[in-house]
Amino acid sequence: MCGIIGYVGEGDAPAILIDGLKRLEYRGYDSAGIAVIFKNKLFLRRCKGKVADLEKILRKSPVFSSIGLGHTRWATHGKPSEENAHPHTDCRNEIVLIHNGIIENHMELKQKLKKEGHTFKSETDTEIIVHLIEKFYSPTKNLLSAVSKAIKELKGSYAIGVLSKSEPDRIVAARKESPLIVGLGKGENFIASDIPAILPHTREVIALDDGEVVLVKKDKVEIFKNGRKIKKNSNTIPWDPVMAEKEGFKHFMLKEIFEQPRAIQDTLRGRYNLETGEVSFEFLNLSDKEIKNFKKIFIVACGTAYHAGIVGKFLLENLAKIPVEVDIGSEFRYRAPLITKDDLLIIISQSGETADTLASLRLAKKKKVKSLAICNVVGSSATRETDGVIYTHAGPEIGVASTKAFTTQLTVLYLLSLYIALTRKTISKTQSISLLSQIIKLPHRVRDVLKNAEKIEELAHKYFKKKDFLYLGRNINYPIALEGALKLKEISYIHAEGYPAGEMKHGPIALIDEEMPVVVIATKSSVYEKIISNIQEAKTRGGIIISIATKGDRTIKKFSDDVIFVPATDEMLSPVINVVPLQLLAYYIALLRGCDID
Ligand code: M6R
Repeated sequence: MCGIIGYVGEGDAPAILIDGLKRLEYRGYDSAGIAVIFKNKLFLRRCKGKVADLEKILRKSPVFSSIGLGHTRWATHGKPSEENAHPHTDCRNEIVLIHNGIIENHMELKQKLKKEGHTFKSETDTEIIVHLIEKFYSPTKNLLSAVSKAIKELKGSYAIGVLSKSEPDRIVAARKESPLIVGLGKGENFIASDIPAILPHTREVIALDDGEVVLVKKDKVEIFKNGRKIKKNSNTIPWDPVMAEKEGFKHFMLKEIFEQPRAIQDTLRGRYNLETGEVSFEFLNLSDKEIKNFKKIFIVACGTAYHAGIVGKFLLENLAKIPVEVDIGSEFRYRAPLITKDDLLIIISQSGETADTLASLRLAKKKKVKSLAICNVVGSSATRETDGVIYTHAGPEIGVASTKAFTTQLTVLYLLSLYIALTRKTISKTQSISLLSQIIKLPHRVRDVLKNAEKIEELAHKYFKKKDFLYLGRNINYPIALEGALKLKEISYIHAEGYPAGEMKHGPIALIDEEMPVVVIATKSSVYEKIISNIQEAKTRGGIIISIATKGDRTIKKFSDDVIFVPATDEMLSPVINVVPLQLLAYYIALLRGCDID
């Protein structure tokens, strides 16, 4: 996730901005930059890499000012590079802008602006915003009004900070679905994406809401909504700097679990059309002809991403009616797989740098196989070496345990399966519309599950001293059992096994006794009756049954010691919902055991 800081006052703006950017480093980023205005001139310093690299540039080529903007970029559109780093300028180098978020309609706006004579210097979605502002600024030279007009044309999410060298006493900022705060100082004011950036200077903060535009001068802050000035109260931040980094969450893992509704929303952004049922991707690089002709799909990944791959197999086989093999990277690369140039290889990797996944890709490429990466990190090896890429847009993963990486990988797999199915004509547009209308509800459904966090914490109190756990699921929720077990062992160091529930009777049932919690994914589905009989088998052995069940299911209580209810959803989409309580359970158990979670 990108980081934003803006300063106006009488202090040393470059130093304040750099310090603020350092305080935002924990968020993860791949490039950094600042812009300041001095004697009505605009100065820009940007680089790929760390804030320390930016500091080196500033030492060689210093800038001076008491107003400026700073940004750390986590690439979503365009590789990490100096040209793509923020701040971005308009055609005349008069206006400069920093942005967090994703602009959905950037391609159509770019085409329009190009026709109107604007020239672009970067591959980012962000740059269109500064050109839009330029368009409205030229006639009036009123930055506040130009920004207010420009944001009306944007679809997507944004937190922006803007400067103009023609009005060198002010920052104009605005937000929609991306956090932005105003920090109130004495004779100085700030904007920032996160509290830690400004904590050394002030604890008085106004949180902006969607649709608000703010004019920030050194001695004045004015907030506007729909063109009208509004009054907002400030809050005093009681957090220490470390707490602030985690936005009040105790650990990054918990923060990332709670970020999932936003992350899934970003994955979906601009990629579907609910009226036509169509799905689109920017860098897929596969022709319809190729998609129609593929004989088989191979999915290769490691760990959590491999579990996403197994869900992907269910989806692709079900919707696109194409055979899918899923492999663990460290197996695929050593097993002489029968993959040919008639097949498609999909690799899934949060980081895009996992050695076994990359080795598998290289092996397939030697056989001239077309490849596609589902990846979170723009510019990573996976995205550079595959023919096509679909970014998950989850934002940086700081916690060790993958949580939002997983649910966003699943979200991509839903969209991709629909895309391939529509191309191969194995589903109708009406079916696609119907599934899409469920998919877009996922962020709300996940938010509902998160409301249950306290109840899951209570369960953790009951079970955190247990030595072994078994996780059971069937069908599309079998990989969720694997994922639940992986999360628990990874962060709590408790032995845990994930199993397809129907396979339990072929051996592992012998392990179940009165001490063994058996976590069963038992939401309403085509295999519900089967899973109920698996629960009964486990119960007969004395196992402690913790069921994940659909809200309103009265039967399940009879068979379970504890139940975590989740909202009803289409069976195909249930993995996204069902994994969330398992992430929380693993987190709270690890917390109670005093484990080092992040
Ligand atoms: O970056 P990748 O997705 O390729 O990483 C693969 C695994 O190492 C990763 O998913 C790992 O299993 C998780 N961090 C576990 O929570």
